[in-house]
Amino acid sequence: MGFIMELGTFPIMKLSLLFLGLIVFIARRRRSRRLLEPPRLNEAIPFVSNAWHFMTNKRLFIERVTDALAASPIVQCRLGPMNIYLVTGSSNVSAIFRSSFSSDPWVMRILEHSGAYALADLTKFATDTSGGAQERIWHAKHRLHDEALINTHSVIALSAAFQRFFGERLAAFPVGEWVEDVRISAFLRNNMATAATRAALGSRILEINPDFVEAFWEYEMYVEPLAFGLPHWLNRRAVRSRDRFRTMCLKWYEIANREFHCDGTSSYEGVDWEPIFGSQISRGLTQWVKSFDFASESTGGVYALFVFGLQSNTIAICTWVMMEIIRDPNLYRDIKEEVSQAEVINDSDEVAFNLQELVSKPLLQSVYTEALRVHVSILITRTSTEPVTIGGYQLPAGSVFQAPTHVAHFDEATWGTADRPASDFWAYRHIREMETIDAIGHVKKQREFSMMGRGGSFFPYGGGISICAGRAFAKNEVLLAVAMMVSNFDVEFIEWVTPNGSRSDRPARDHTGYGNGIAAPPDRDMKLSWRRRR
Ligand code: HEM
Repeated sequence: MGFIMELGTFPIMKLSLLFLGLIVFIARRRRSRRLLEPPRLNEAIPFVSNAWHFMTNKRLFIERVTDALAASPIVQCRLGPMNIYLVTGSSNVSAIFRSSFSSDPWVMRILEHSGAYALADLTKFATDTSGGAQERIWHAKHRLHDEALINTHSVIALSAAFQRFFGERLAAFPVGEWVEDVRISAFLRNNMATAATRAALGSRILEINPDFVEAFWEYEMYVEPLAFGLPHWLNRRAVRSRDRFRTMCLKWYEIANREFHCDGTSSYEGVDWEPIFGSQISRGLTQWVKSFDFASESTGGVYALFVFGLQSNTIAICTWVMMEIIRDPNLYRDIKEEVSQAEVINDSDEVAFNLQELVSKPLLQSVYTEALRVHVSILITRTSTEPVTIGGYQLPAGSVFQAPTHVAHFDEATWGTADRPASDFWAYRHIREMETIDAIGHVKKQREFSMMGRGGSFFPYGGGISICAGRAFAKNEVLLAVAMMVSNFDVEFIEWVTPNGSRSDRPARDHTGYGNGIAAPPDRDMKLSWRRRR
C-alpha cells in the first residue's frame, strides 16, 4: 500500500510542479508583454478603417473605443500617420493633464493644417524653447488669454457686448406678432454667431465681409479633419473653405489696422469695445501677431482659428439647451421662473440681466452642464515629454494620448440613477434639494447646483495648462442667449425638420458625420413659432 502511494504521489507532485512552473511562465510572459504593448483597437483594413471611421463617422469610432476601453483602460490605435494611446479612468485622465504632458504637437498640427500658418511661423513655435519666459511665443499667448479672456473684467465686458448685439437681433422681431417657421438651430447659427463676432472682433469685419458667417460655418466643418494633414487633392473642399475664410479674416485685419491707426490708437486705450477690432482679446491678438512678426497667411489663420474657438461649441450647446427646454413645458416654466429672478431694468429702461445672478441659478447651470456632458465629444490630446507609466504600461517620451470625454461623460456608475441612465439628457441631474429652516421654524426646500464629487469624470473644457481659456465667457454667452429668448418670447413648438426642411419623424440627435472637434451640433432642426412680448 505504502509502495503504491509512493509510486502514485511522485508523478502527481512532478506534474503539479510542472503546472505551477507553466503558470508562472505564462504570467511572466503576459506581464512582460503587458509592459510592452497595450491592446490595439481592431480594424478590418489595417491602417485605414480606424482613420476612415474617425473622419467620417466619429460617433461609431467613439462607440468602438468605448467598448475597447471597457476591457482595458488604455488601448492603442493608428490614425493616419499617428499612433495614439486612448485612455480612460479619472487617474489616467488627470495624469495626462500634468505639466509633463504637452498639447503643443497636436496644436502644431492644427496651426499647420487647419490654420495654414506659414512655415517660418510654425518654426518659431517649434523652436520656442529658448529665451526668457517673456519672449516665448506660447507664454505670450497664455498671458494674453489670462488678461483678455479669463480675467473677470474682460469676461464681463465681452458678455455685456454680446448681450447688446444679440438683443439687437432679437429686437428685429415685431412685438406682439407671431412669427411662424423659426428654426432654432438656423436662427442661432446666424444670429448668435453674428452677435458673438461683433462682441469679440467688432462690427467692421462683418461690413467688410458680408458672407463672413456663412463662410465660417463652411470652414468650421473641416477644422478637425484638416488637422490630420491629408494631401490637398484628397481634401480639396476643406482646403478651399479654409482658405476662403482666412482670406476674409486677413482682409479685415489689414483694413482694420489702417483704419485703427488713422483714428489714433490711443483713443481706444482702456476701451472695452470699439467697432474696428472689437474687444481686448482681438486687439491683444493683433499685438501678439506683430510682436512675433507673423506672415500675413499666418495672421489670417490666427483669427480664423480664434473664431472657431469662439463660435463652434457655444452655438451648438445653446441650441441643445433651447431644444431641450422647448420640448418640455415643465422645464420651460421652471427655467422661465429662474430667468425672471435675474431680470433688472437697465439705464435705457429695458429689461436686462444681472449676469452674476443669472449664471448662478441652479437649474440653468444644471441644464448647461447636462448639455455639455451629453453633447461634447472630444478626444483631449496630449504628448508625453518624458517616459511615463499609464494603465500599467511603460511608454516612451513622445507618446500621444487621447482621453475621450464621451467615455467619462457616459459612465453609468458615475452619472446613472435608477430611472435616469447616463445616456439620457436629464435637465435636473445636477440639482440637489436642500432643506433650510427659516426664522420662524418653517422648513423650506431649496435647489442647489451640485456636481456631487463627479467633477473628475467631467472635462468638456479639457484640463491642465491648455484648459479652454474661453470657458467663463462661454457659460455667460449661452445662458444670456437662453435667458433673452425665454424672457422676451412666447414660444410654440411646431415640428422637427430635416436639413432640407421636410418634416422629420424623430427629434434631433448628435450629427454623426460631422467632423467638428468638440460639441456635436444637432442633425435636425426644431421648427417653432414665437411672439416677442416686449
Ligand atoms: C461650450 C463652449 C466651449 C467648449 C466646450 C470649449 C472646449 C474647449 C476645449 C476642449 C479646449 C481644449 C482644451 C485642452 O486641450 O485641454 C479648448 C481650448 C480653447 N478654447 Fe474653448 N470651448 C468653448 C468655448 C470657447 C470660447 C467661447 C472661446 C473664446 C472666447 C474659447 C477659446 C479657447 C481657447 C483660446 C483655447 C486654447 C487654450 C490654450 O491652448 O491655452 N473656447 N476649448
